[in-house]
Amino acid sequence: MRDSLFELAPVTEPQRQYYFIENAASLIKLREAELLHPMTFHVTTFGCQMNAKDSEKMTGILTEMGLREVGDEYGADIVLYNTCTIRDNANQKFYGHLGTLNGKSHRNSDRIVAVCGCMMQEPDCVEKLKKSYGFVNIIFGTHNIYKLAELICRHLTGESHVIDIWDKPEEIVEDIPTVRKYPFKSGVNIMYGCNNYCTYCIVPYVRGNERSRDAGEIIKECEKLASEGVKEVMLLGQNVNSYGNGIEGSLSFPELLKEVEKVEGIERIRFMTSHPKDLSDELIQVMKASNKICRHIHLPLQSGSTRILKAMNRRYTKEQYLELAAKIRSELPDVAITTDIIVGFPGETTEDIDDTIDVIRKVRYDGAFTFIYSPRTGTPAASMDGRQSKEWIKAEFDRVLNAVQEESKAMAVRFMGNTESVLVEDVNEQDESLMTGRMSNNLMVHFPGEHSLIGKIVNVKLTECKGFYYMGEMV
Ligand code: 5AD
Ligand code: SF4
Repeated sequence: MRDSLFELAPVTEPQRQYYFIENAASLIKLREAELLHPMTFHVTTFGCQMNAKDSEKMTGILTEMGLREVGDEYGADIVLYNTCTIRDNANQKFYGHLGTLNGKSHRNSDRIVAVCGCMMQEPDCVEKLKKSYGFVNIIFGTHNIYKLAELICRHLTGESHVIDIWDKPEEIVEDIPTVRKYPFKSGVNIMYGCNNYCTYCIVPYVRGNERSRDAGEIIKECEKLASEGVKEVMLLGQNVNSYGNGIEGSLSFPELLKEVEKVEGIERIRFMTSHPKDLSDELIQVMKASNKICRHIHLPLQSGSTRILKAMNRRYTKEQYLELAAKIRSELPDVAITTDIIVGFPGETTEDIDDTIDVIRKVRYDGAFTFIYSPRTGTPAASMDGRQSKEWIKAEFDRVLNAVQEESKAMAVRFMGNTESVLVEDVNEQDESLMTGRMSNNLMVHFPGEHSLIGKIVNVKLTECKGFYYMGEMV
């Protein structure tokens, strides 16, 4: 039976995966008859929006296989971890979950444990799992998540340990089932991978070279999402500003935005992330002319020191970054600018941090994520000299964090008294009578309202600024 199952499989995608989804569903039914209970699954996602999007696709595949999603990670029959390796603490968190899982007994002694994502593209991690975590049944990487049903079929037909990691991406496979976390907003991949090779970053190694999706496919996906009630799309890529580079006849990113804007029913468009070296004047003008593109640009600085930026291979100087930020502030005064900053890069000195703080004070970020540099195996920075002590890094990190918090608090106040359009996302966690929504500039506002407002876009007057969020009233 096993041989014929694999021999009869179509070779073209996605037909091949629909074939395996159907067969996995039958194999699961057989297993359920033995277990005397319906089988369940749980997906734990670490890391960024890309991983979140991948997990939605895998949730779609598992649901299509007839499995039920449950909230109890350690009680599910199929437990899937979608891992991240951007910094070492992401890796440690994952091992923490695996340890807890191993310590918990389960009603089904044949519980299936599957792990995938960025960590699995690192040979050392896979070796460690093979050596010390023998209870993990299925290991796959970032390039073949669409093959989940096929891998589960391999396991269910007798392979106790299935390992399938690809060094390089192959085709982009579209039209895989997806179950979205939110009915009213969705991420849309416009490109995969990254070609920038910032010297600290592992992404190009684990996610592969940059590949842009076909614009027609992206628009088709947005239209489908709109027809399902989605109001806000977030266009996802490691560097959206280089969308279409190197593809003859492809749209540029600003041109793509103009096409997405035409999709009826999509009322808000976000995008993430913008590399400062590639953010064009054309993009600024397209944003200026648009009433659908949200007033938010995430523009990772990483460091304010030209010397460190060079060592990071960021390909812009402090002055060029400041010039770009000033242009955005003058052309788009209501746009919020947020950023990522790394502290403790090899060779960094107090003067370099002074430069970073100088940029923070000049740009006046609306928000920032600050990270401590984490060496990643195989990246150029991991073998650079000049690592500072933990104490130095901690003190400088606090200095950067204080500057960021002071500026973003001061910046948030500028919207006070405005009436803003808000996408209502949730009921307030602390107070059931309040609803929580997101403004175009990505700030959150809490206001009295009915639960039925979730997923709607409403106008809210901002009545009180609480530092990083607002209280308001619907008008
Ligand atoms: N150490 C610390 N922070 C890192 N980032 C990427 N790689 C590292 C690393 N090795 C940060 C960058 C990036 C964000 C997603 O993560 O600031 O913009
Ligand atoms: Fe990493 Fe740089 Fe690519 Fe961003 S642009 S994913 S920081 S290599």
